[in-house]
Amino acid sequence: MSTATPAIIPAELLAPMWDAARAAQARAYAPYSRYAVGAAILDEQGQIHAGCNVENAAYPQGWCAEASALSAMVMAGARRARAVLVLGGDGKGTGGDWITPCGGCRQKLREFCGPEVPIQCATADALGPVYTLEQLLPHSFGPGHLKTP
Ligand code: THU
Repeated sequence: MSTATPAIIPAELLAPMWDAARAAQARAYAPYSRYAVGAAILDEQGQIHAGCNVENAAYPQGWCAEASALSAMVMAGARRARAVLVLGGDGKGTGGDWITPCGGCRQKLREFCGPEVPIQCATADALGPVYTLEQLLPHSFGPGHLKTP
């Protein structure tokens, strides 16, 4: 179990992840909450996959930015994430600051992230804290608990 200090995402990787998350946040479909979120995932090949939250008139059917970004990663053929950036809030104090992934998204990320993977919180113009997946979802359930067919 890793409770170590999260690795800092190098600036040359963080900058394009942040840009991708900002662009994704700008495309959020959030007419009900009016809370736009963008997420960017760096995969093991160095590719960045981004996504936004997509809400629905039947509220529980909406999904989070992290789910969209994971879907984009899987569709691009990648299976492992090396770093994650989640961008919430508008940095102006309306609708809050940076966010950490919701509980469901922590589990979704767990599928494709090792325990040490850094998850950087941010707004459009400021970085928040960085946590490891293990810090956000300790003692988690994952693929290793299942017998593969
Ligand atoms: N949301 C995300 O996209 N990611 C999270 O980790 C937390 C919440 C979205 C869901 C919903 O569209 C809006 O933020 C308000 O909850």
